[in-house]
Amino acid sequence: IPVVIHPDSKAGSRFAASEIAALIRQKQAAGENCVLGLATGSTPISMYAELVRMHREEGLSFRNVITFNLDEYYPIDKDAFQSYWSFMHRHLFNHVDIDPANINIPDSNWKKEEIKKYCAEYDAKIQAVGGIDLQVLGIGNNGHIGFNEPGSSIFSTTRLVNLDNSTRIANAYEFQHISKVPRLAITMGISTIMKAKRILLMAWGMKSAIVAKSVEGNITEQIPASILQQHNDCTFIIDEPAAAELT
Ligand code: F6R
Repeated sequence: IPVVIHPDSKAGSRFAASEIAALIRQKQAAGENCVLGLATGSTPISMYAELVRMHREEGLSFRNVITFNLDEYYPIDKDAFQSYWSFMHRHLFNHVDIDPANINIPDSNWKKEEIKKYCAEYDAKIQAVGGIDLQVLGIGNNGHIGFNEPGSSIFSTTRLVNLDNSTRIANAYEFQHISKVPRLAITMGISTIMKAKRILLMAWGMKSAIVAKSVEGNITEQIPASILQQHNDCTFIIDEPAAAELT
């Protein structure tokens, strides 16, 4: 996996945003839609801020952009501060000219018995618009991508999953108490992610151990991000601290 190392997360975020903006503009010039797969969490926040800045100051338009988010807690109220629906609107969608009809975020309102069908439709919708041109990823300390926790099959598609306890602890800071962190989530599968034409994974700071395992270790379903070694256009964009354990 090619790794691009920036001095800090700010520089890395600016680089990632400029790659995304270049693709959006290239597709615009060709009269095509640009299909982005998007992530939440602390990692992409400054990249979204940079995209918003480019929209305001450099005329970057999102009118041809279609987005699919990786995941959402289950259950969660869309309007809850902690929902990924709220996160995406707060950090990106409320500040750019994207058509709301082009925004896709896994919907947590479905009853459990309806979810399978809903998830299959989510994957089908991605294919129907031509597939994801560029997928943005973060990485969990256990190697998860999306909410594909260790042990997720390479053949997995969008589905309802259990969150690892370590993931619930890592995300507890957003909630009043660990007990309030949902135990389930809807996530794109590993195979959904691997179908993206291009993947940018960002990692900052304390992620050096899992970055090294994912890039240099064996490919194993126990470290979902290691499966990205089998993708033909995946780049890790990391900062110096996150690069500390690469050989
Ligand atoms: C978020 C997602 C997760 C996060 C990962 C890292 O949509 O899919 O895989 O990217 O948990 O989270 P942060 O960035 O908060 O360290």
